[in-house]
Amino acid sequence: MYIHVEVERITIITFAHHKGGTGKTTSCLNIAGFLVKSGKNVLVVDVDPQANATSGLGINPDSLHVSMYDLFMGKCPGYQTITIIDCIQKTKSGIDIAPSNLELVGAEPFLYTIEDRAKMLSEILVPAKNRYDYILIDTPPSMGQFVINGLVASDHTVVTFDRGVFALQGLHTLMTIFSDIREIVGSRITPDLAILTRWDCNVAGKSGIRAFFSRFSLRDSSDRVKEEVMVREFEEEVRKYFNLVYPVPYSREIYEAQKAGLPISHFAPESPAGKAYSVIAEVIQKW
Ligand SMILES: Nc1ncnc2c1ncn2[C@@H]1O[C@H](COP(=O)(O)OP(=O)(O)O)[C@@H](O)[C@H]1O
Ligand SMILES: [Mg+2]
Repeated sequence: MYIHVEVERITIITFAHHKGGTGKTTSCLNIAGFLVKSGKNVLVVDVDPQANATSGLGINPDSLHVSMYDLFMGKCPGYQTITIIDCIQKTKSGIDIAPSNLELVGAEPFLYTIEDRAKMLSEILVPAKNRYDYILIDTPPSMGQFVINGLVASDHTVVTFDRGVFALQGLHTLMTIFSDIREIVGSRITPDLAILTRWDCNVAGKSGIRAFFSRFSLRDSSDRVKEEVMVREFEEEVRKYFNLVYPVPYSREIYEAQKAGLPISHFAPESPAGKAYSVIAEVIQKW
């Protein structure tokens, strides 16, 4: 007898790092953009009250009637239940978004009253699962309930790093947090891919004319050499934990694309960062 089994084709990916400014939102939106350009249906879920993914796709967070706040609150006793489909908006790049705004801050204390709180986002995503090829979750710079929910809901975790002085310390903390979550929640959280944001050789975060002039800056060149050695050591350390490690260079187009409410795939795909994210999106499609 022939039994038809529907295989779920969806891939859910969370972008995480407990520090702000490491490139979570930028990576999430730009990878989403290249996936859309390859003909995939992509939903970005914004669980950061700062709502940079929402505004980065051209949606004003202050204009929302329904947001991720309502979805989390809908899981609390006495609140109206809605589905994620009621919350999703289309954006001009073709990426769909389940948007958020600052209201989301108010939902977190309620989550602590719910026993199965780590699995709330998994449940919230269920009605969207047969509509998309990819769901990408952008998380806040913390290790609070929203990030834990993102990690538990996803099949893969992408961790973003910048060149901050405390980057190495951050790496060990993060790995400890991942194993703690594994123990507490019982879900396997595998850090699959690391993205090294603004990872330029020689001159951190500068390109073109800025890089040229920075060579003549007052800063002692031995300091710069020391910094480069630290950055290379850090990169080697990251490679011990992650199978896939991709640097993304600084591109001024990233900021301009954000202002235009578009991912780099749709704004400046040939920019240095655009090319890097295009390669990462191809790698992700092999998962
Ligand atoms: N490759 C890049 N080139 C230039 N600017 C970048 C790049 N990646 C990120 N940025 C900028 O760095 C800042 C922090 O990035 P963001 O993705 O918002 O970090 P996070 O979401 O981790 O807080 C943003 O202003 C963004 O425009
Ligand atoms: Mg962000």
